[in-house]
Amino acid sequence: MNRVGVLASGGGTNLQALIDAVATGHPAKLVVVASDKRDAGALERARAAGIPAIVVPKTKAQDREAYDRSLVDALRAYAIDWVCLAGFMRIVTPAFLGAFPNRVLNIHPALLPAFPGLHGQQQAHDYGVRVAGATVHFVDAGTDTGPIIAQGVVPALQDDTPDALAARILTMEHRLYPMALRWAVEGRLRVEGRQVHVDLRPGESTALFSPG
Ligand code: GAR
Repeated sequence: MNRVGVLASGGGTNLQALIDAVATGHPAKLVVVASDKRDAGALERARAAGIPAIVVPKTKAQDREAYDRSLVDALRAYAIDWVCLAGFMRIVTPAFLGAFPNRVLNIHPALLPAFPGLHGQQQAHDYGVRVAGATVHFVDAGTDTGPIIAQGVVPALQDDTPDALAARILTMEHRLYPMALRWAVEGRLRVEGRQVHVDLRPGESTALFSPG
């Protein structure tokens, strides 16, 4: 159960973190990277790593469900067990989630349930928080509302620009996502309602903290 498809709309640094982890013994097998954007940097990163990279653009005629069905059709060929949303800037519908029940993970650049939706880092900066971070969670039909697997905390410094804070969060994301995906593909996650139980090994934790 380690065949993973990654969906990304942007530059793909989280994808790169997964690629790098796999290159050094991570148990996931990245079998396809899909994007809604032809020019997504993530596609280039996939190709450079020898992973099939596919574009599934949304057509004008498609509503969200129709688009998600076309995405599912495109992914089926790769027989994936897990889907990682890694900067995929679309809300997935039940048409997508039903094809991969309890098998879709997302990374969000905020400490959920604070600051869901777009630009979580900017929202945190604007609110004036003292800690910020990232969350890996199961995806449900809401916006960033699914059961939480792991969170990583970073300081929000008073002289931070939004970009400085976002960069600190991103570094944390790159630690967090490979860790959570490892638990997923190793069958170490059990979901009961909102609670995710992780079968942790010595030294592991569902909460990461930035060194500074
Ligand atoms: C990441 O910060 C990720 O958490 C965020 O998009 C960025 C993608 O960066 N995702 C969301 O905001 C989803 N709501 P990347 O393309 O370099 O991985």
